[in-house]
Amino acid sequence: MKTRIEQLKKEKNAVILAHYYTPDEIQDIADYVGDSFYLAKAARQSTADVLVFCGVSFMGESAKILNPDKKVLMPDLSADCPMAHMVRPGKIEEMRKKYDDLAVVCYINSTAELKCESDVCVTSSNAVKIIKALPNQNIFFIPDKNLGSYVAGQVPGKNIILNDGCCPIHAKITAEQVRVEKERHPKARVLSHPECEAEVLALSDYIGSTAGIMDYAKSSAEQEFIVCTEVGVQFEMMADNPDKRFYFPNPHPCCQDMKLNTLEKVLDVLEQENRVVEVGEEVRERALLPLERMLELAK
Ligand code: 13P
Ligand code: SF4
Repeated sequence: MKTRIEQLKKEKNAVILAHYYTPDEIQDIADYVGDSFYLAKAARQSTADVLVFCGVSFMGESAKILNPDKKVLMPDLSADCPMAHMVRPGKIEEMRKKYDDLAVVCYINSTAELKCESDVCVTSSNAVKIIKALPNQNIFFIPDKNLGSYVAGQVPGKNIILNDGCCPIHAKITAEQVRVEKERHPKARVLSHPECEAEVLALSDYIGSTAGIMDYAKSSAEQEFIVCTEVGVQFEMMADNPDKRFYFPNPHPCCQDMKLNTLEKVLDVLEQENRVVEVGEEVRERALLPLERMLELAK
């Protein structure tokens, strides 16, 4: 299968982009593996004609919005992020009426329709930097209340209004699970994604995006880590740091949507070119603005 995938990539001038939460076999064959921000930039900079996006639908959509002339394929179009939909219709309008200077800041984990209503997108690796750079005092942060509340702690001068959405995978990690791992591995550093609940973040030595966590583990002189994020990160972490040890909360946090990406489906979509990401032109043009503003402000 791998050989055939390689042949098809060359024939069609295609590249494969994969998030760190996709299965190991996918990360193994991908041309670009990274967190949401890295993948959005890689999609923008690519000179390929075909992008095969292994992730969830908001990632494929963002790639299409940034690259209208490229064909964007997804191995499984039903791979979706539940959090991407977690903003009540009418809520943004309500907030805009309430605050004159409101900036709607939209985590990239959101539908294209939500992006259309937003002033700027962010990812977990640039949210603090971008919100600090905005002139607005009042910020409505959608959809993730946990990332929003983490950012609020880092930018105390602004009024950050939270929305009641969250990542069901990260939010399921409990402080008790982390304490159990800390007792088992007293020397281990706790590394957490800001999509985790505040009680988990309070027990952490480092808080950052998926790529931030990987970089921390690589550059740290410590040998053991309790990792509070999706378990797919262990593939690259173990490859990068064969002598270090990584432990995950029990049960291991696992995003079933990310795991819908399989080698069979990558081969099939490259052959058939049939699972195409489409975004209507009007939505695409409006959703492009907050994404471009993010790329600009994050520089
Ligand atoms: P990052 O890729 O920005 O770390 O976000 C994590 C995530 O949950 C992606 O779906
Ligand atoms: Fe969405 Fe959470 Fe899965 Fe990421 S890990 S795609 S935020 S459900």
